[in-house]
Amino acid sequence: MSQSLIKNIGLLVTNDSSLGKTELGLIENAALLIENGKVTWVGANESAPTAEKTIDAAGKAVIPGFVDSHNHLIFAKDRAAEFSARMKGESYTAGGIATTVAATRSATDDELLSNATRLVHEGLHSGTTTVEIKSGYGLTVKDEVRSLHIAKQLTNETTFLGAHVVPSEYKGKADEYVDLICEQMITQVKPHAKWIDVFCDKGAFTTDQARKILLAGKAAGLLPRLHANQLEQGDGIALGVEVGAASVDHISHFNNDDIELLKKSKTVATFLPGAEFSTRSKYPDARRLLEAGVMVAIASDCNPGSSYTTNMPLMIALAVREMYFTPEQALWSATYGGALALQRDDVGHLAVGARADFVILKESSYIHLAYRPGVNLIDEVWQHGKRI
Ligand code: NIG
Ligand code: FE
Repeated sequence: MSQSLIKNIGLLVTNDSSLGKTELGLIENAALLIENGKVTWVGANESAPTAEKTIDAAGKAVIPGFVDSHNHLIFAKDRAAEFSARMKGESYTAGGIATTVAATRSATDDELLSNATRLVHEGLHSGTTTVEIKSGYGLTVKDEVRSLHIAKQLTNETTFLGAHVVPSEYKGKADEYVDLICEQMITQVKPHAKWIDVFCDKGAFTTDQARKILLAGKAAGLLPRLHANQLEQGDGIALGVEVGAASVDHISHFNNDDIELLKKSKTVATFLPGAEFSTRSKYPDARRLLEAGVMVAIASDCNPGSSYTTNMPLMIALAVREMYFTPEQALWSATYGGALALQRDDVGHLAVGARADFVILKESSYIHLAYRPGVNLIDEVWQHGKRI
């Protein structure tokens, strides 16, 4: 049996609200026992059990590993020139996706796997211990299947996003492409995918097309989630709630009706502040959703177009500074919220029974994640009970 005790934790964030006065389930001067990859005891340092191996956290803060619930990591090449043009005044459109589709189709499996592995490791070293990965830069049956086959080698949270944009060979024939997705792609990607996603927005898919695809995916056993209202106010959030999506993501635009629908549903609202940052767009004010009690997650949306970063501490800093999250809400949303968005109860918290995925920070408080933006505050990352 492998057993490690992390002792002298200045501040432990468990996200177990029964353990403290707030949602973060904070314990000061704490210890954490992990056995065979799981948390088996949490509590006060002075009453900690003995263990085979002891690690002294020296008063630093320990938080659950980040759950980054929204990423597009199966692609080739980057779009630095597009980013540069944007910073000189161009605006972001869904059209840029076609550039990455062409590069991805011409890449080998090894190239795609090694690029995605690099990004997963980059995220892991900044504290991300659970990652979701979408396809969506293949857009042929063959290229979507191989994208998900590669993604599945890196995570169980794999998402089929064949409905990212209409590929150029189907220009003017969007409904035929929707039929290809529903009649061929879904069955063939199913062995490698848990989720189905659609980019329901200006320049991508209409609400009716998105509904058709999500329902076909559900019928085949894929679980729905949705890119909604990134570029304009639309019916994406309502559609997500209607089909029982685990999460509606981006939601840079939302109205009072959307808030009412989300309040009554189990659908998580996922904000992706890296996309606003990198497309120089207006940040949504998350307070209205948070105050309404909607379940909220934040994720990095790592992709070569609209948000080329894997860094969840940066997402926390942006959510706090630009979207009016409190530091507590941002940390919860990057951990527990992400787990809810992936319908996982084993990650995103450190209660007894949880997977021992956690981060020892270099500072004594999680507040520093927003307070010291751009500084590497990750001291150690542990995944499945092992220090990486
Ligand atoms: O989530 N919104 C759609 N898809 C990606 C962007 C993809 C790209 O530009 O390559 C996103 O932001
Ligand atoms: Fe995305």
